[in-house]
Amino acid sequence: PIIYAITPTYARPVQKAELTRLSHVFRLVPNLFWVIVEDADETSALVRNLVNRAMLSQRCVLLNAKTPTNFKLSKRDPHWSKPRGVEQRNEALKWIRKKIKHEPGHSIVYFMDDDNSYSTELFEEMSKIERMRVGVWPVGLVGAMKVEKPIVENDKVVGFNSVWRPERPFPIDMAGFAISSDLFEANPSAQFNYEVEKGYQESEILRQVTTREKLQPIASNQILVWHTRTEASKMDNEIKLGKKGLPPSDEGMI
Ligand code: UGA
Ligand code: MN
Repeated sequence: PIIYAITPTYARPVQKAELTRLSHVFRLVPNLFWVIVEDADETSALVRNLVNRAMLSQRCVLLNAKTPTNFKLSKRDPHWSKPRGVEQRNEALKWIRKKIKHEPGHSIVYFMDDDNSYSTELFEEMSKIERMRVGVWPVGLVGAMKVEKPIVENDKVVGFNSVWRPERPFPIDMAGFAISSDLFEANPSAQFNYEVEKGYQESEILRQVTTREKLQPIASNQILVWHTRTEASKMDNEIKLGKKGLPPSDEGMI
């Protein structure tokens, strides 16, 4: 099946590095289709050039959806204080729902953040997701643990090992599940929402399309994705250049 990977992304010094890393995963996995949604008023030349250079333009769509200012994280806010990716993922779901109407068979929908680290093997495993089901698997380096994972017995998910907010309906990270596209057709209003408690975005989308009992465990004893977070790079000296009236250090580079 086609795997639609939804990536919200926003402009910052590390953006091109993150997207380059991801684009090279796409080059290695032919059934991946990339739905990039920029958190901006319009799509950017940076993202467009990047997908063209990676020769991915046939397997990619470039969208934009700006986070409303009252929900946008400011520099001073701690990173977890507001939900991220809500506007962008909903825009992508709208696009996918239209797209799959005309497609035979089912596809897979995966929420692929721009900063995590993905093994190509994850996508082989994800392709096993059955119609009308949600696949779940372990995620490394999240929840202040080496791994957060579903607990599996006789090929059924019987619980989760998370220590942070284990009372959540689905105590897993966004990188730890993918959804069969027919569930988005069967539940046409399923989407993300700003009005949920911190850490409940995953539960919010999952509760609208499935139940714990129906989850399909995949790659249960392997870590194929890591919830890495890139350190924000310091730009003090770059700012100094500007103050001295000198050009930016990347002037003339493409
Ligand atoms: C965790 C989860 O891994 C996210 O999938 C989830 O959206 C988030 O918590 C949440 O609870 O909202 P975390 O690493 O803290 O993720 O979030 P980020 O990686 O900073 O952001 C998730 C995605 O949204 C990224 O692809 C990022 O590029 C994008 N984003 C972030 C924007 O589009 N705009 C922003 O202002 C911030
Ligand atoms: Mn992240």
